[in-house]
Amino acid sequence: MDAARDFQRQGYLVLPGFASKADCEALKARALAWVDGFQPETVSIFSTHEQSRTSDDYFLGSGDKVRFFFEEDAFQPDGSLRQAKALSINKIGHALHDVDPLFDRFSRAPRLAELSGTLGLKRPVLLQSMYIFKQPHIGGEVNCHQDATFLYTEPSTCLGFWFALEDATLENGCLWALPGGHALGLKKRFVRAPGGGTTFHTLDATPLPEDGFVPLEAAQGTLVVLHGLLPHKSGANTSPKSRHAYSVHLVDAEAQYPADNWLQRDPAFPARGF
Ligand code: FE2
Repeated sequence: MDAARDFQRQGYLVLPGFASKADCEALKARALAWVDGFQPETVSIFSTHEQSRTSDDYFLGSGDKVRFFFEEDAFQPDGSLRQAKALSINKIGHALHDVDPLFDRFSRAPRLAELSGTLGLKRPVLLQSMYIFKQPHIGGEVNCHQDATFLYTEPSTCLGFWFALEDATLENGCLWALPGGHALGLKKRFVRAPGGGTTFHTLDATPLPEDGFVPLEAAQGTLVVLHGLLPHKSGANTSPKSRHAYSVHLVDAEAQYPADNWLQRDPAFPARGF
C-alpha cells in the first residue's frame, strides 16, 4: 500500500492493529484514573450564574491542560448526574499528550513521527489531544465537521491520528467519512470572539454534502488517519457498549498559527513535536 497516495486521494487511512491491545488497555485505565481524580464540584461550570462565561473560560483555558467535559445528556433536570461520573464524561481535553507521561509516550511513538513525515508534515507539533468516551446510552452525536476548523493554520496543515481504544462499530457510533471530501476546502474556522467566548468565521458558505459518507468501523488498536479538511462525523451511541477513542492532532510549525485561534497555549508551555 502506498499510504501517502491513498491518503491524498481519499483523505483518510484506516490502519488496523497499529496499537497493541495492551497499549489500548493501559490508556483506558489511565484515562479512568484521571476521571476518578476529577472532582466536578471543584469546577464552577456547574454554577448556574454566568454559566456560559465560566464554561467558556474552562474550555478556552484547556489548550495546555487536562480538563473534563460532560455529555450533554449527562444531567437530570435537577442538575445531578444520570449515570456514574465515569459514565458521564464526553471527553478529556486538550493536553493529555503533554501532561500525562503515558499519553506522552504513546503520542510520540517513532512510528507516528515517521507517518507524519510520510504524509507531508515538515516540522510536526502535537497541538491537541482528546480522550473521547462516547459513553453507553448517552454518547452524543458529533456533527459533520472538518478538524481544521478547530486546528487552523495558514496554509492548512492539520493532521489527525484517531485511535480506536475499543471496537468502534455501527452500533456504538463509529466514525463516518466522506471519501475525497478534503478537496472541498475549509468551510469555517473556530475563533475567539473579540468580546469573549468563541464564534465561527465562515470561509465558504457552500454547505458540506450530506450524502456519500462511509462508515469507518475500527477494531481496537486501529489507527484512523484523518486529513484536516476531510468532512467526518459520528452518530450517537445508544448501545450499552462504550466506544473509547484517543485522538492527537498535529500541525506544521512552518505554517502560520493565527492569534485568534480558539486554542492557545501558555507561551511557557508551548506545543512540542516528537
Ligand atoms: Fe473530528
